[in-house]
Amino acid sequence: MKVLLLSGSPRKEGNSYIALKEIGDELQRNGVDYKIIELGNKPVRGCIACYKCIELGRCVFEDDIYNKVFEAAKECDALVVASPVYFGGPNGSLCALLDRLFMSAGKHLQYKPAASVAICRRGGASATFDSEQVLPYDKYASYRFTILEQCSWTYTR
Ligand SMILES: Cc1cc2nc3c(=O)[nH]c(=O)nc-3n(C[C@H](O)[C@H](O)[C@H](O)COP(=O)(O)O)c2cc1C
Repeated sequence: MKVLLLSGSPRKEGNSYIALKEIGDELQRNGVDYKIIELGNKPVRGCIACYKCIELGRCVFEDDIYNKVFEAAKECDALVVASPVYFGGPNGSLCALLDRLFMSAGKHLQYKPAASVAICRRGGASATFDSEQVLPYDKYASYRFTILEQCSWTYTR
């Protein structure tokens, strides 16, 4: 059993990473394997609504971070997405990647349990959870994530 822990933050080993590491340590204590992927600070292109992923089963754009997350999404048994809160929502590069991932890898993720974490300094965590980006995709029948839990984490380093 392996859980994919995905951080949307551009800050290497920032607060989102710290929150995910806490989750990872707890998973490990319970005999569950995990893998953390950080999106990093390179540009992430967004979905261009070409709908080619429906034929190809993956996005037409094969950038490194998409390929890495796509492969990990296929292999994982569960998914946790952590996002820093940016102006009351998830950060932009995470949204760009998740739009493409959920459009193209829905079949690899469906029925897998999922959870989300919002990391903020002051506020905006609930808006981030509600934003239809950080795992809201359970709303769309074809993806059918089971959201186990949503938690927010306030930590400033
Ligand atoms: C562009 C930008 C917008 C932000 N907007 C908010 C916000 O609306 N609410 C908040 O509490 N923190 C906001 N923050 C602070 C981050 O959410 C906070 O520092 C978070 O811990 C960063 O997590 P990270 O280290 O994983 O990137 C913002 C930060 C940036 C860079």
